[in-house]
Amino acid sequence: MPHAKTTPFAMPLPEALAHVDRVFGVDSILADEGQDIVAPYYVQSEPGYKRVHSEKGCMHMALNPDGVYSADGYFTQIRDVAYQIRQVQAKRVLELGSGMGFNSITLAPDHATVQFTGLDLMAHHVKTASKDAAQLPNASFRQGSYADIPAELHGADVVFGLETLCYATDLDAVAAQIAAAMAPGGRFVMYDGFRRADFDAAPPDVQTAARFVMYDGFRRADFDAAPPDVQTAARLFEVTTAVTGGFHTIDAWDAALTRAGLVVLRREDLTDQSIAGMRYLHNRAAKFFHSWKYRVLKHVMPKYLIRNAVAGLVGPYMIEGAGPNSGDTMGAITYSVLMAEKPR
Ligand SMILES: C[S@@+](CC[C@H](N)C(=O)[O-])C[C@H]1O[C@@H](n2cnc3c(N)ncnc32)[C@H](O)[C@@H]1O
Repeated sequence: MPHAKTTPFAMPLPEALAHVDRVFGVDSILADEGQDIVAPYYVQSEPGYKRVHSEKGCMHMALNPDGVYSADGYFTQIRDVAYQIRQVQAKRVLELGSGMGFNSITLAPDHATVQFTGLDLMAHHVKTASKDAAQLPNASFRQGSYADIPAELHGADVVFGLETLCYATDLDAVAAQIAAAMAPGGRFVMYDGFRRADFDAAPPDVQTAARFVMYDGFRRADFDAAPPDVQTAARLFEVTTAVTGGFHTIDAWDAALTRAGLVVLRREDLTDQSIAGMRYLHNRAAKFFHSWKYRVLKHVMPKYLIRNAVAGLVGPYMIEGAGPNSGDTMGAITYSVLMAEKPR
């Protein structure tokens, strides 16, 4: 199977935006920019995440290093967290934005001496995760925000968050909460989408990674320099996944964690590995926009649930640029990992 990025999109970007405009109205979606819709989005999207998105209970993107979509990709980030657990011989792990519990429930059986606690904003996610973890003595879930991590959860040797810290509004405040929750010598890992920052200002190794991520021939790749259509695709993705303030840049997180006293050890652009998973959701979403039978659902399904079809459709343009259909290959968003340590 060829790498997903060498195959054409289901449709060119202008056609995709026209479909979105006709069915939902681009301006109508973007009117939610800046609004706090996280809670209604996740309440309404529950059936979508349970039945359409991915593996049972998983709410993050697959990372497939070979560029071919497979469900194994949902475990890529978890393997990295397992590696960090081994590195620091962790006894306590805190998962931020644990969703329906997929990550901690996957990790707990293989780490019987480690206590896993998941913290999530949404009560219904915590309920699902707690039910699925009922037979696991070393995994539990509780409701709360990472903007105010309960003191009982402090002292974690590993703190991690997959595709959740994009919802943070005050990075310094959340970074301080994270640092306070970590034991000295502990590790913090986040995987997320990030708006591309100024390319030339990026550290040399990040620039090297980025050059390999996209097709040849781009230099500056900051969000504002991306083609307008690609920026619109990115903004549509952000709003239809409730990231209405826009993804943060990795520089902003790096700086906030550093100000909180952590030492950033790794920041790596993994966009290339996310392409196959994004294309998988893109092809499924294209069916919705191509078929009137599916579009009828728009009239019976809750607004934020059905708008996930927009995120699915536009995701690849946001990370790859308008791509194979137009030759325009500058993306506006990266999928990256950031890892930091709390000094002893
Ligand atoms: C895309 S889902 C990812 C869930 C999980 N990390 C996974 O990989 O399956 C994002 C999660 O972040 C949670 N979330 C959003 N804002 C939060 C906050 N301030 N504190 C804790 N959880 C939050 C949402 O409820 C949701 O479960």
